[in-house]
Amino acid sequence: MKFEQLYAKRASCMKTSEIREFFQLTEQPDVISFAGGFPSAEYFPLAQINAVLQDVIAREGRTALQYGPTEGNWELRRYLAEKMSREGMPAEVENILITNGSQQGMDLISKVFINPGDVVIVEEPGYVGGLGAVYNYEAERLPIPLDHEGLRTDLLANRLRKLKREGRRVKFAYLVPNFQNPSGICMSLARREQMLQLASEYNFIILEDNPYGEIRYEGEPLPSIKSMDTEGRVVYLGSFSKTFIPGIRIGWILADKELIRKLTCAKGATDLCTNSLGQRMAYHFAAGRMIDAHLATLISRYREKRDLMLACMEKYFPAGVTWTYPCGGFFIWVTFPEELNARQILLKGIERKVAFVDGAGFYVNGKGKNTGRFSFSEAGPEQIEKGIAILGEIIRGELAAAGGPKTKSA
Ligand SMILES: Cc1ncc(COP(=O)(O)O)c(C=O)c1O
Repeated sequence: MKFEQLYAKRASCMKTSEIREFFQLTEQPDVISFAGGFPSAEYFPLAQINAVLQDVIAREGRTALQYGPTEGNWELRRYLAEKMSREGMPAEVENILITNGSQQGMDLISKVFINPGDVVIVEEPGYVGGLGAVYNYEAERLPIPLDHEGLRTDLLANRLRKLKREGRRVKFAYLVPNFQNPSGICMSLARREQMLQLASEYNFIILEDNPYGEIRYEGEPLPSIKSMDTEGRVVYLGSFSKTFIPGIRIGWILADKELIRKLTCAKGATDLCTNSLGQRMAYHFAAGRMIDAHLATLISRYREKRDLMLACMEKYFPAGVTWTYPCGGFFIWVTFPEELNARQILLKGIERKVAFVDGAGFYVNGKGKNTGRFSFSEAGPEQIEKGIAILGEIIRGELAAAGGPKTKSA
């Protein structure tokens, strides 16, 4: 059967990201991996989950194991509406749609808004799941570089002016303002305000994805873009994957009520409803306040790992290598000297059983060859020290090799 002859045109955009293909190599059991961005399974609160599950099955098993409404479980939606309101984003139950992880939120928004060739603004480097979701619907991705304050709104303003002159339509900007994946960067308040102002001027939506915002190690939280939105143009994505567990696949969309109705229609055709049992588990864990203590524990454990990885980079990486300082989340973004190729470093790392992700896959245009994403969420302390020391040696070797020919020809 030659499926290629029958595929829809958009199927040509549906490709496994190179990063995900590479994970098979990096996630071998004997490899020290800084590659995956998973939460640490060691921290899953198994005893509490067991108790919650038993209780749910005993008390409401017949509904918890049944299909549910497409919009999601009413109590969970009410809990989330209250949580969002407490966080400065006034919401009612009808503003919330429960999704199969925030990833489904990206897919639904793309499904509802993107016509082939529409422009979607993405961060450079950007989250692979978001880059893929918009590309599947044949969007043209417009990457805007980040600096230490997040997306360069000055560059974006120039590009928007140009697109307007060309009569091109920007549908939305996909942003991860807090401790971005892959860079760990937190967008400054000024940039958040400028994004809103540009979105209003050029009439596009902001898709604000915030799976890491609550995992903050220092400093005061900044207002979400959604909390400053007076026009209803920000769609906010939340998730229980990092603050509770990812396996139940529970996230949510907070948006204008009319848009939630449209997204609900789109979702119905996709999966009828989100995991009913998972929604009950998330509700009881969160509404029963178990999540508060759990989150505090997560923050202190991940903070220790972040501090250790940063200290090891300082100790073992040679001069010329730079990296970000994440105030939350799971990721450190490393920039190697320009003459080095991160894929080469990674391949040599894998030979010595250490892995990270080379950065090119987080770009849509072949840039970033001397960059890499290092996640500190899963590896243990000894692994972090050992792995970074080995990579330090490899980088030194690569630098010496790159310096060799240069010196000869000079
Ligand atoms: C920025 C970002 N958004 C969304 C997701 C996916 O989250 P979920 O499990 O809620 O689909 C991830 C997962 O790594 C992520 O890093």
